[in-house]
Amino acid sequence: MDIFQVIRDRRSIRKYKDTPVEREKIEQILDAARLAPSWKNMQCWRFLVLTEADRRARLLAAFPDDNPGKKAIAMAPVVIVVCADPCESDVENGIEYFVADTAIAFEHLCLAAHALGLGTCWMGWYDEAQIKRSLSIPDNIRIVGITPLGYPDQEPRARPRKELAEISFFNEWRSEAC
Ligand SMILES: Cc1cc2nc3c(=O)[nH]c(=O)nc-3n(C[C@H](O)[C@H](O)[C@H](O)COP(=O)(O)O)c2cc1C
Repeated sequence: MDIFQVIRDRRSIRKYKDTPVEREKIEQILDAARLAPSWKNMQCWRFLVLTEADRRARLLAAFPDDNPGKKAIAMAPVVIVVCADPCESDVENGIEYFVADTAIAFEHLCLAAHALGLGTCWMGWYDEAQIKRSLSIPDNIRIVGITPLGYPDQEPRARPRKELAEISFFNEWRSEAC
């Protein structure tokens, strides 16, 4: 699949088939994440891949019931907890770059999954401390996001995006008139 098509067609998937995901595909997706750029190439990211049902079930209580993706965590055959070690990145201009580093890797992962016919949904609304406790993730590690991974059981329509003219300017900053 052409990269522009992958970017255009990816959707957040919240319904999954129970078809298992092949180990080679999981590794191919993780490898795409591994190749992401990062602050001083320090590669602060870590990926905890949950394939065992009882481990995935431990996560559920940490998601609020009104999180639209909660059911996907229960449904998908794989869940990936995308983590970072902030000591392997830096803070500059007040920006904690471990978040940026790991977000880039996370998006590589989502796009690679889509290119292989698999669905993902970046989820950020959960109780981090509770998930760390339930999976014995060390205190110094941060969870940047969590995604279900599996074969999609839905074809969601594209969500709207702002027009290019609203978000990009050539040569001169343009503020919206109030
Ligand atoms: C940082 C971040 C956090 C998100 N958290 C959640 C979440 O907790 N639950 C959920 O269902 N979707 C979550 N999403 C998915 C967004 O709702 C989704 O990307 C957005 O509506 C656009 O839809 P699309 O991904 O299908 O293009 C999150 C996305 C991002 C980037």
